[in-house]
Amino acid sequence: MTAIPGEFARGTIEREGQAGQAWLAELPGIVDDLLERWACVPDGEVTHGGVGVVVPVRRDGEPAVLKVSFPHPGNVHEPDAYVAWAGRGAVVLHERDDERFAMLLERVSTSTLAELEDGDEVVAVAGRLNRRLAIPAPPGLPRLREQAGAWEEQLGRDAEELPHALPRRVLDAAVATVRELGRAQPDTLVHGDLHAGNILRADREPWLAVDPKGCAGDPAYDGGTLLKSRALALVQADDLHKAVHRVLDVFAETAELDRERVRRWAQFHAVQSAYWGRRHGFRVARGGTRLDLLTRFLDHLAELLTERP
Ligand SMILES: Nc1ncnc2c1ncn2[C@@H]1O[C@H](COP(=O)(O)OP(=O)(O)O)[C@@H](O)[C@H]1O
Ligand SMILES: [Mg+2]
Repeated sequence: MTAIPGEFARGTIEREGQAGQAWLAELPGIVDDLLERWACVPDGEVTHGGVGVVVPVRRDGEPAVLKVSFPHPGNVHEPDAYVAWAGRGAVVLHERDDERFAMLLERVSTSTLAELEDGDEVVAVAGRLNRRLAIPAPPGLPRLREQAGAWEEQLGRDAEELPHALPRRVLDAAVATVRELGRAQPDTLVHGDLHAGNILRADREPWLAVDPKGCAGDPAYDGGTLLKSRALALVQADDLHKAVHRVLDVFAETAELDRERVRRWAQFHAVQSAYWGRRHGFRVARGGTRLDLLTRFLDHLAELLTERP
């Protein structure tokens, strides 16, 4: 029977409650069934991210990983994105079982881009990958433009219920982004969660993406995902203004995107996160001083990104 890492189990129960507990009880059985069905033998320590367990395996001698995610709507389109990329810029999908939110994937290194010291290099790799992943989206993937209405409504609620969180002009800029960029987005495949922890070292290509949400929209959208994920690194910058604008410069250039568009999406993400943190906390900072620090940093980031350079 495959053993499920304790930290993963605790995180799942904390986030999903009863449903998480029930799923965890089934998970070892699900893993063992799939290993048998896909003719795989375990080959190393089980790892995990926030929502899925990852079991290193071999099939016909070839290294692969079995990933089983918690059955959540946010994890439905991951295999569709892999199919569309067909290995270009992302790991190859070998098998899928959509009912059980499971996939057999090409195995690469567990080293992530987040381990690199050089901040410019992190952003440049992510930017180049963003460019490579920006292909026509297959039908059936959620369109980000269809979420624009819900984003705007949520921003309205946040502003009303958390009135002192952000200055009006910062909120207004985020709403303008949703209206002007959010409602008319192209049918381009967007990873949706492109941060350095979801970019793994590989041989076939130097870096490959994993863990896509798989949606269709503006390729500049993930510039904001990336920038937000750099928060803990940016907190330490001597000159935050300079550091943030450097991320925008490098990402826009390597991703071949309009810098202003990247800035506006990044501002929107920062505003969303500043509100989100106040309501729910973050996985990296559930409460206390750490959450206060991060929330205040996101406020500052949102404000900073509101100005044109
Ligand atoms: N194809 C893969 N090859 C090697 N390791 C992988 C692969 N996919 C995931 N991993 C490992 O599992 C971790 C979590 O995977 P990820 O897909 O990001 O899960 P989650 O959806 O839970 O965030 C990664 O950081 C990496 O260490
Ligand atoms: Mg991940």
